[in-house]
Amino acid sequence: MRLEGKVAIVTGSTSGMGRATAKLFAQEGAKVVVTGRNAERAQAVVDDIKAAGGEAICVLGDASDPAFAEEIVNKTIEQFGTIDILVNNAGMLSMSPLMDVTLEEWDKVFRVNVDAALRLCQLSAPVMKEKGKGVIVNVASVASFAAHHGFAGYISSKHAMAGLSKSMAWELGPEIRVNAIAPGCIHTAMVDSIGGVEALQFMVDNCPVKRVGQPEDIANVALFLATDDSAFIDGQVIKVDGGFEA
Ligand SMILES: NC(=O)c1ccc[n+]([C@@H]2O[C@H](COP(=O)([O-])OP(=O)(O)OC[C@H]3O[C@@H](n4cnc5c(N)ncnc54)[C@H](OP(=O)(O)O)[C@@H]3O)[C@@H](O)[C@H]2O)c1
Repeated sequence: MRLEGKVAIVTGSTSGMGRATAKLFAQEGAKVVVTGRNAERAQAVVDDIKAAGGEAICVLGDASDPAFAEEIVNKTIEQFGTIDILVNNAGMLSMSPLMDVTLEEWDKVFRVNVDAALRLCQLSAPVMKEKGKGVIVNVASVASFAAHHGFAGYISSKHAMAGLSKSMAWELGPEIRVNAIAPGCIHTAMVDSIGGVEALQFMVDNCPVKRVGQPEDIANVALFLATDDSAFIDGQVIKVDGGFEA
């Protein structure tokens, strides 16, 4: 029970690696706040956690709306009284090439992938600072380090997430540690939406572990970063990618 008594917000936890993280955190004793837009999947995660003896609530809304961050933090405080851990995981793809991406699409991907994390950080950090301790884990990407054709908005947003994570670490320490996870190819609904693992086979071929990642591979690292096992790790963007292009 490495997170006993802790309260954790995990955004984008109705699916994929966020869901795996929410369930693992609850299994380790945390009271978990599940967020996303899909009510049915959110409730299913809450039900699974409760059935396993844990505590969870869900807060539904769209991460592109700044008011949603306030609702998440207010409901967390109302229900559980504090915030110890914030995992900024909710994210969306943007599949337009550079010359075609509209400002609307660009704005949306930044609102969901970056702005929501900033706003949640600004609202949660004072609570953590006051209690003298807290952890923020951001979900970046291998696309935080390198670019490929056709994902300009997504790649730019994930580069921004890396910079934001380092800025958070500098400005929120020493009470709050902030790190980011940079997943490689992880088999989730996001990957399925662009043709599944087959479409990203080059990522599997180009990593020494020769397999696609699973949501639990990310949840395990999020747990490590949320505990004092990682007490001397701060401001890092940690690749969890099976050694992709190592
Ligand atoms: N899968 C990969 O290979 C990979 C690689 C690198 C980085 N990542 C990053 O990992 C994170 C999790 O992705 P995943 O692969 O686990 O994808 P996923 O299974 O599609 O999960 C995405 C989660 O984000 C939520 N979300 C998306 N847009 C939202 C919005 N506008 N408002 C509120 N919630 C929203 C979804 O909730 P609802 O559907 O309920 O709205 C869902 O819970 C993302 O930040 C993604 O960019 C993924």
